[in-house]
Amino acid sequence: MKVDGVPYRTIWPNDDGSVEIIDQTLLPHRFETATLRTLEDAAYAITAMQVRGAPLIGVTAAYGICLAVRVDAGDEALDRAYEVLNATRPTAVNLRWALDEMRAALRNRPAGERVDAAYRRAAEIADEDDQICSRIGDHGLPLIEAVHKRKPAGEPVNVLTHCNAGWLATIDWGTATAPIYKAHDAGIPVHVWVDETRPRNQGASLTAWELGHHGVPHTVIPDNVGGHLMQHGMVDLCITGTDRTTATGDVANKIGTYLKALAARDNGVPFFVALPSPTIDWTIEDGVAEIPIEQRSGDEVAKIAGKTAGGDVVTVQLTPDGSPVANYAFDVTPARLVEGLITERGIAPASREGLAALFPERSRGS
Ligand code: MRU
Repeated sequence: MKVDGVPYRTIWPNDDGSVEIIDQTLLPHRFETATLRTLEDAAYAITAMQVRGAPLIGVTAAYGICLAVRVDAGDEALDRAYEVLNATRPTAVNLRWALDEMRAALRNRPAGERVDAAYRRAAEIADEDDQICSRIGDHGLPLIEAVHKRKPAGEPVNVLTHCNAGWLATIDWGTATAPIYKAHDAGIPVHVWVDETRPRNQGASLTAWELGHHGVPHTVIPDNVGGHLMQHGMVDLCITGTDRTTATGDVANKIGTYLKALAARDNGVPFFVALPSPTIDWTIEDGVAEIPIEQRSGDEVAKIAGKTAGGDVVTVQLTPDGSPVANYAFDVTPARLVEGLITERGIAPASREGLAALFPERSRGS
């Protein structure tokens, strides 16, 4: 996607082997890149959420392995790098998937070939994500087209999304946003309700920034507005992303997603989830019981950052001194509330059979 006319991906290798990222902790008020030079830099970027979003976490981990093998390409160092990166964030399974891909690509090679092989495989994973997200957009586009056809001429299709499952969460396109960008680019009028997504405000800070830069009409809403909008016929479709999808179609996504799915079901609004197949954890079946839910620092709830009238970005405290806070970063939406899973191979019913039909080679027992 373009930022002020310049095409960007979210992560790319520099000629000297270091890795460049867009520092998402500074958005929307400052657009800056940061350079990762070591395994520790990559681990910190994921933990501190300079990069975030399931697919981008995976690609950053892949480049983290590259940075590690530059220093020591032996098996022990590779295993250590795997463990360090795998411990950064627990919920998005793309992290483990990308690390497994990297280890498989390097394990049986002589140490002297590992650096080149690592950068090659990391670049492939990034390219694959770009292509996968574009295909998610192609498969999701007819959903928006169908709503457009039945609405009165000139009325936009209203899509509600939660968190940032946009291009900043991936390499390009995004997952939930890919159908939206494809529809907008095809001339279909789309308007996006952007949940602010407390506590870290990925919707207000990142999704709104992205959509604005691409010229997609959108409105930022507090997280608790969606139900009201749905009751008044102001939402045609919900599309979110996911950090881990079980083999049976349960989805873990940013905290608050479940409540939107409940409101959508109560109001007959179709609730779709867009995902690249590396987000599917084929080893688990019960999302509520089995998906690890990250708990992050209470400071993310107790404090908030924003721009003052003078243009300075400052952080202020919201809660009384000493009030305890809880910060559960994700929740699980059971498959029964999900209308369909938009993948790179098409839209699957959110069920074991639905996913297995699209990915027969990956599903258990095949
Ligand atoms: O905590 P974050 O910002 O990494 O959470 C991101 C999300 O919940 C996204 O919706 C998810 O990773 C899907 S990204 C295409």
